[in-house]
Amino acid sequence: SPIERLAQRVDGLSLGALAERYPNCHPETNPFDLYRAHLSDVLARITGVDHKIIYPALSWTQSLDKGDLMLAAPALRIKGRRPDELVQEWAAQFPADDPLFEKPTAVNYFMAFYVRAGPIVQGVIPIIRHQGADYGRCSFHGLRDPADPAKGRKRIVVEFSSPNIAKPFHAGHLRSTIIGGFLANLYELAGWDVVRINYLGDWGKQYGLLALAFERYGDEEALTRDPINHLFQLYVRINAEMTAEKEQIEQRRQAGEDVAQLEADSLDEQARRYFRKMTDRDPAALAQWRRFRDLSIARYRETYERLNIRFDEYSGESQVSEEAMHRIVEQMEAKGICREDKGALIVDFQALVPGKEGKRLEKPIVRKRDGTALYLTRDISELLARHDKYQFDHMIYVVASAQDLHLKQLFKIIELLGHQDIAAKCQHVNFGLVLGMSTRRGTVKFLDDILRDVADKMHETMRRNETKYAQVEDPAATADTLGISSVMVQDMSGKRINNYTFNMDAMTSFEGDTGPYLQYAHARVSSIRRRAGLSDDDLAAADLSLLTEPHAVNIVRLLAQWPDTVQNTLRTLEPTTVLTYLFRMTHALSSSYDHLQVVGSERELMKARMALYDAAHTVLGNGMRLLGLNPVERM
Ligand code: ARG
Repeated sequence: SPIERLAQRVDGLSLGALAERYPNCHPETNPFDLYRAHLSDVLARITGVDHKIIYPALSWTQSLDKGDLMLAAPALRIKGRRPDELVQEWAAQFPADDPLFEKPTAVNYFMAFYVRAGPIVQGVIPIIRHQGADYGRCSFHGLRDPADPAKGRKRIVVEFSSPNIAKPFHAGHLRSTIIGGFLANLYELAGWDVVRINYLGDWGKQYGLLALAFERYGDEEALTRDPINHLFQLYVRINAEMTAEKEQIEQRRQAGEDVAQLEADSLDEQARRYFRKMTDRDPAALAQWRRFRDLSIARYRETYERLNIRFDEYSGESQVSEEAMHRIVEQMEAKGICREDKGALIVDFQALVPGKEGKRLEKPIVRKRDGTALYLTRDISELLARHDKYQFDHMIYVVASAQDLHLKQLFKIIELLGHQDIAAKCQHVNFGLVLGMSTRRGTVKFLDDILRDVADKMHETMRRNETKYAQVEDPAATADTLGISSVMVQDMSGKRINNYTFNMDAMTSFEGDTGPYLQYAHARVSSIRRRAGLSDDDLAAADLSLLTEPHAVNIVRLLAQWPDTVQNTLRTLEPTTVLTYLFRMTHALSSSYDHLQVVGSERELMKARMALYDAAHTVLGNGMRLLGLNPVERM
């Protein structure tokens, strides 16, 4: 394989020996690990420090001008010497004829290492050609036992999206969908067995109310045609009625009237009774509710498909068994985790968890006075059921930071129940708000409408370039893809926890770090490839030693960082880690075109440059697909 050849070129390094010498070294998937291993060996000889201490101390740089790897002298923990002096000495002793690195530079406490152009260019491009869509994959990460792949892979449950039936799919659900889809892809790339769960809000008194609304105003045809909008309209209408009714009753009560009968006949009471029928498993009530649920899921599925997302399980609050919840609450009572308070059962965290933490966790209710369970109770039961069912090694909840407290309460209760091991496997991946998602018809906007509006806008932009437009096979589909990319890239640009403002003009612009810009960068390489008219064999046979220009070398240096970027993303769990990398790479690409002409250059040079751009195309595509984007070839 190309990586073995690269390892052989460097004296004394065979892949097997490397793997034994460095436990976290995977040159077959990450060529840069070979560089790290080699550098650790060289530095071990110079510094006298063990190579295993040096290896993890080698860090990335912020930009190429600062080198390809960095070492902070204090990380080697040498006592009694000034780190800046050490760094000067080591740099001076670094062999001038090292096969992979130039002589390092010393800045303060740091040594900066720059790779030599020849080996990186001739090593990395063939590796990317060879690995293709797998370049960046790190299957070892998900192994139960890296030394023994036969022991199988670790399993992760990612719960995300989780909209509420008959209520708007709002920005919070959109973010959860985008981030969750990305995380699921990420863990898959890292070799985990990934289970994607959608935990629908599909249970509670409000679904009794919805059924009443359907009995009164429902329209079969509208329900099957557009269940999500129809159910939402019914929901809005009946809620307005219920609010008006409540006000009336309140007025009469204050006027001294006896309102007992009015209350017994009220919508609120009817909804409660209907929901009671549902929890009692009344066949007719359940059948009606199931229809609402199934039709909604069918519609959601279509939207998810547009976003490249599928779920292994449509779970939901309705799927939590009443009996299981009953048992859990009884256990909680027996263990003194919850106690009675005005007829309800509450968890008084302040009495259970010492200090500030107990106070911060507040006093949630787990069973209402009328015996019904709550959102939190369902989550407790569902979490344990999921653990039974999937035996996961890790579980991620992708839920807005508005629910930070809820998830903290949930994990703490699991811990107090004696399941510290399970609680330790659970993680809340949170995110901030989307501001300024303005609307056409009031306060809500459905995801499908948003995606359609953005797609329309992209379609308009595409039409402005008539020649190009004529060449795009299915302009509407491409506009849809570009629109989705716009929304997703804007969402993933900042850190998850930051709020951002939904801005249609900014997100659809080709200026700046946007979805359309990223797609354009990808399509542009495809277009060069089409015009160059070179075959795969031509590219495989290219003489890569012709790629000596700084622009070419810098692109390769960035391409070499892709597997490290994936590794880093597994630590940050931030889409922006990937996106920042992709924009650095696309910027390097676009500034290179004037210097590295393909079409019009002499044939050998053309082949070499095309091989470079083709490798960049692969990495860009891999990164975009990891984010959940659909890379386009023409636009
Ligand atoms: N359906 C909920 C909402 O829209 C989100 C569910 C989050 N997941 C959970 N396990 N509680 O607010």
